[in-house]
Amino acid sequence: MASSTACSHQLQRACSRPLANARLPTALPAALSRLPARRRGGGRPGAAVVPVAAAAGVRLAGVGSSVPEKFLTNSDLAQLVDTSDDWITSRTGIKKRHILSEGESLGSHASAACLRALDMAGVAAEDVDLIVMATSSPDDLFGSATTVQACGRGQAIRASRAAAFDLTAACSGFVMGLVTGAQYIRAGTYKTVLVIGADALSRYIDWRDRSTCILFGDACGAVVMTAKDDGSCALLGIDMHSDGTGMRHLNCAFAGEGMKPLSNGHASDEGSYSNLHMNGQEVFKFAVRAVPTVIEAALADAGMEKQQIDWLVMHQANMRIMSAAADRLGVPAERVVSNLAQYGNTSAASIPLALDEAVRRGDIKPGEVLAMAGFGAGLTWASAIVRWG
Ligand code: ACO
Repeated sequence: MASSTACSHQLQRACSRPLANARLPTALPAALSRLPARRRGGGRPGAAVVPVAAAAGVRLAGVGSSVPEKFLTNSDLAQLVDTSDDWITSRTGIKKRHILSEGESLGSHASAACLRALDMAGVAAEDVDLIVMATSSPDDLFGSATTVQACGRGQAIRASRAAAFDLTAACSGFVMGLVTGAQYIRAGTYKTVLVIGADALSRYIDWRDRSTCILFGDACGAVVMTAKDDGSCALLGIDMHSDGTGMRHLNCAFAGEGMKPLSNGHASDEGSYSNLHMNGQEVFKFAVRAVPTVIEAALADAGMEKQQIDWLVMHQANMRIMSAAADRLGVPAERVVSNLAQYGNTSAASIPLALDEAVRRGDIKPGEVLAMAGFGAGLTWASAIVRWG
């Protein structure tokens, strides 16, 4: 339907700007020396050691996902708390959610998602330059991206050449990770980037709290981005925001004894996090307002109109939020990708999981334009208008 091939204006400003007159940090020449010659003044003797103007193109080349086998239906939850299938279905659209079993790791599902995405893209794990793992519930607080990479170990993908790091932005994490990964490709730093959205918020749920335990599920999704020679960029438009004053409405704060390491003269050996706390009504009002607005801003960045959206691929939190956003954008219900009923809110995983299913079903086709939008704790909200395939 859509014909635009231009890159996000925001990404263009960031990556296409000639740096000849910019003030370069002292560490930059060494970093630049590792860049390909075409980005270093063409290799001519005496040429300025600065990036040239043309930015590399970006392609979304593959997607994959993985969810735990175990799941809880609404009826299962009605055994735990005072709720019903009717209430959960009518207020949220959720029917069941998948949950990690004891001994199962987020990293193993993230690795499985990555391998499926790499397979679709036809890219070998050894060719991955960068892994960005968006998660708020890592297996290890020092980072889970490296366990996905873990060269030669267990269920890891063995991406021995890659650099890997985690990114925390709750349910906006995947979109923010996608924008981050694209910047590295646009700048010519890397050619192949894996962006993972993975969460197991079941780890932080109070299973006695009916206002939150009905919402969340565990899952992982991943997208492979590769450099393109023709300069065209799959990220057509972007818009990202955060508002830390809204943190009180949705958080999962550190609450361990470790906050007082030397109380009573003894070092504490405890450290823990509170259960997820959410003021549902406030988050609902924020989301209904923020999601269509951020998509409209990303469309403006792309220089595109609402009518050019082929599919809405939003964070799967509540059917009523998705319907309100679709109505305001004038996108018909059959063009809204939704798997909320099967998985609930899987936080950073929800967008790549929904994308993966829609691509493998054959609904989303190469060349189609997707409006992605994530929102959640932080508060954070972000949109990317992308071209698939
Ligand atoms: N079953 C039955 N009754 C319930 C349940 C339940 N599971 N949960 C709440 N109720 C009751 C409440 O106690 C309240 O009862 P009262 O009227 O007697 O006081 C009544 O239902 C209405 O409660 P509300 O909170 O007003 O219900 P609401 O329609 O707002 O739905 C919900 C709650 C589903 C949480 C909704 O507010 C929502 O989806 N909010 C957005 C959450 C979200 O999108 N989060 C995304 C970010 S997540 C992240 O970033 C990690």
